[in-house]
This record gives sequence, C-alpha cells and structure tokens, in this order.
Amino acid sequence: MSRSAHPAGPRHADVLPEGHYSAPPADLNTLDAKVWSETVSRDADGVVTAGGLDVKTLAERHGTPAYILDEADFRARARSWRGAFGSDADVFYAGKAFLSRAIVRWLHEEGLNLDVCSGGELATAISAGMPADRIAFHGNNKSTEEIRRAVEAGVGRIVLDSFQEIVRVAHIAQELGTRQRVQIRITVGVEAHTHEFIATAHEDQKFGIPLAGGQAAEAVRRALRLDGLEVIGIHSHIGSQIFDMSGFEVAAHRVVGLLKDIRDEHGVELPEIDLGGGLGIAYTSDDDPREPHEIAKALTEIVTRECEAAKLRTPRISVEPGRAIVGPTAFTLYEVGTIKPLDNLRTYVSVDGGMSDNIRTALYDAEYSVALVSRTSDAAPMLARVVGKHCESGDIVVKDAFLPADLAPGDLIAVPATGAYCRSMASNYNHVLRPPVVAVHDGESRVIVRRETEEDLLRLDVG
Ligand SMILES: Cc1ncc(COP(=O)(O)O)c(C=O)c1O
Repeated sequence: MSRSAHPAGPRHADVLPEGHYSAPPADLNTLDAKVWSETVSRDADGVVTAGGLDVKTLAERHGTPAYILDEADFRARARSWRGAFGSDADVFYAGKAFLSRAIVRWLHEEGLNLDVCSGGELATAISAGMPADRIAFHGNNKSTEEIRRAVEAGVGRIVLDSFQEIVRVAHIAQELGTRQRVQIRITVGVEAHTHEFIATAHEDQKFGIPLAGGQAAEAVRRALRLDGLEVIGIHSHIGSQIFDMSGFEVAAHRVVGLLKDIRDEHGVELPEIDLGGGLGIAYTSDDDPREPHEIAKALTEIVTRECEAAKLRTPRISVEPGRAIVGPTAFTLYEVGTIKPLDNLRTYVSVDGGMSDNIRTALYDAEYSVALVSRTSDAAPMLARVVGKHCESGDIVVKDAFLPADLAPGDLIAVPATGAYCRSMASNYNHVLRPPVVAVHDGESRVIVRRETEEDLLRLDVG
C-alpha cells in the first residue's frame, strides 16, 4: 500500500521523506482498538495496561523484550471463530502462527482443532493433551519418521502434498495395520494476499498438487486405490493476510469442480473440503479485517452455492486460521536504548530486540504500528523508524511510524499485533536470546514460554 508523505510534525525534518506512513494521528496517546488486544488500555497515570497489569510492572517482572499475550483476547477470538462456523464445520487453529503448550490447552478448552506442520508441533500438541483425532498434519516434505509418529498417534487427518507422500502414508498406515484419513492439498491457480488476488499461474510453488493439467485428479485416482488411505476431502490454502473474499470464491469454485469430477469418475462424493487459513488482521489503523461471522457466512454461502450448482451434497467445511486468532492477542514490549535523529530523514529508535524477535518486516516488508506505553506525552509527533540491535541494516521492526519527539532512552514502547509469526519465526541471530511469551489475565502474568538464556545457547554448542 503506498502512502503519502505528510508535512506536519517531526522535529528533524521540514518536509518528510517518502515512506510507508499515513498522517500522524491527532493524538499519539490514543490506542487504536483495532490493533491492540481487548484488555489493553491506559491507566490513570498514562501507563498502558494489559490483562490488568501495567507494562512497567511487566517489564520489571519479566524483562524486555517480551511478548505480552492477552489470554482473554485469545480465548475470545478462538470462541468467536468456533461459534461463527458452528457445529457443521471445523476450525483448525494453524499452529505455525504460534504454538506452545498453554495455547494447545486453551484451544482444547475452547473446542478448536489444531493444524500442525512438523514433528515438533505435533509433539507440542500431543504433550499438552490435544486429542490426536483433532489434529491435522501438514507439510510438503514430512519425513517418514514424522508420518509414522502421526499415524501411530492417530491424527485425524494427514494433508497429502505430493505423489510420493500418497504412497508413503499409505504404506506406513498399512504397516501399522490402520487406514489413515487424508485430504489432498491442491493448488487451484489462485494466490491471494491482502486486498488482491490473482487467478492465473500460481501453481508455481512448492505446496500442493496442481489442479491444472489433471495432476490433482490423478492424485485422487491414486489415493482412492490404496487400502491404507481413507480420502476424506480436498484442501486448498490460497495465501495470507487476505481481506477480500473473491479469491476464496474462485478457489471454492475450482475445488468443487474437482469434487464433481471425482463423483463423475469414481462415484464417490468426498465429504470434506478445507479452505485453509490466511484471513487478515489489522497491523495498522489502515487495515480493516472482517469479523469471523462474516467470513463464516461468506465461505459457507460460496461452497453451498457451488455445490448446488454442481448437484453435490455440501461437504463439511474446515478452515485453518492462525494469524486471525493469535495475531492481535499479543504485543512486543521493548525498551528504548538509543535515539538517532537524521536530518531531513527520520529518527532511528533502537530497541533491545529486533529482527530476531520479529523477522516479518525484513522478510515481507510487513507494516506495524508502535506506541509509547510507559507514559503519555504531549510532544509533537516525530517520524521514527524502530530498529533492533542486530548487526544488519535491514534489522527494522517498524519502518515508519510516529512517536512523540520527547522519546528518551529507558522509555517502553510496544508493537501491537505480534502474536502471529513473530515468536514462531524467532531466531538466535547474533546469539541474541529469544524473548519470553508472557500471558496476562485478570491481573496476573504467567510465563508460558520462558526467555532463552546464555546457558541454553551454550548447551547446544557442544564444542
Ligand atoms: C495450509 C495452511 N493453513 C493455514 C495457514 C495459516 O495462515 P494464517 O495464519 O495466515 O491464517 C497457513 C499459513 O501459511 C497454511 O499454509
């Protein structure tokens, strides 16, 4: 999204440089409810609180940087997805967005299923008590060891991603004397991101089996012949951070077209269809995500309409939201270390984390918001770039945002909507220690993933 430079505000530039930013907000102290989790607000002293605890207390107790995760908000979002789809559909939380044992327990309690995509995620799910039949196992190159563990555990479905895997899973299931429920992941030639989708040529990717050229139909043909497999449906995932339903419409049309071909060729009506995840959230005030009930209504209507047109029984729908559940529930709390004003450009604000706790800005050019949270300020807005402490000039957390011009070392700032794909993609680059995930709820804080220590690093380095 291209945004225009704005001629107001900062202390170090008369005319602001080109950049990815809107006009500075009228009041930098106001927190836009769109990008912050449900229990976040400012207390009477101007300090931001989350889950009933103020950020200064959280920083003292748990240090910075830290991911502060709002348990009530997570549960509310999980419940609202579950409620929106009702008992005729299944919601699989995509664990890749962020997974820990506490998360697994909350999902279980709120009635959601879980999508995992590695042996590590599977182990986390099982160790926290998620019933195996509520787990879907994904991945474009699952090892035979991982497949065996999944089949032995009794996972509810394995999503097959290649011709080799069809044979591998069937073989392992037969060896173990069972029949594995599977879906076949196809690529429908649709790629959707944010507001746009393109409906041509997106078979050019590593996931799934292309519908084009009859490959998906051939995969189904082969899978249906194998005794070790029970083919329960077709899976399609079209992209990420999607706000517009039109990509799903095209995808559903094509998936249902395949279901019809399968019925015509094999006399089998597959009972399930999975439309994947990818639903967008608000990272900045410019983003307008849809509510789960609107998404559920739209997807159900699309599939029902397509099936009626194809004279098929409407299959059971499943979806796999990750970001839309966990993304808005957390913010990253940082302490400001250094501040460098660059004349006629912007002010670089360095924090005590960076690309090792949020790689999305460097990797995807993602946009985030930021706020001063340890106090309020009446100072003028200053165009800031929030950067990390890594030896890399691309180590940017927030590319362009407004912070008060009196920002000082020691202030706490927070970047909202970091619940998804931040801790789960965190690294040890420069041997920087990965931050903890701290759940806040009803005035209490609980570490659900602890901060990494230098001992953790050295334990892996066996000399
Ligand atoms: C198959 C599949 N399902 C679900 C998701 C979750 O996407 P999101 O977190 O954007 O909802 C992904 C993300 O890559 C995916 O590949």
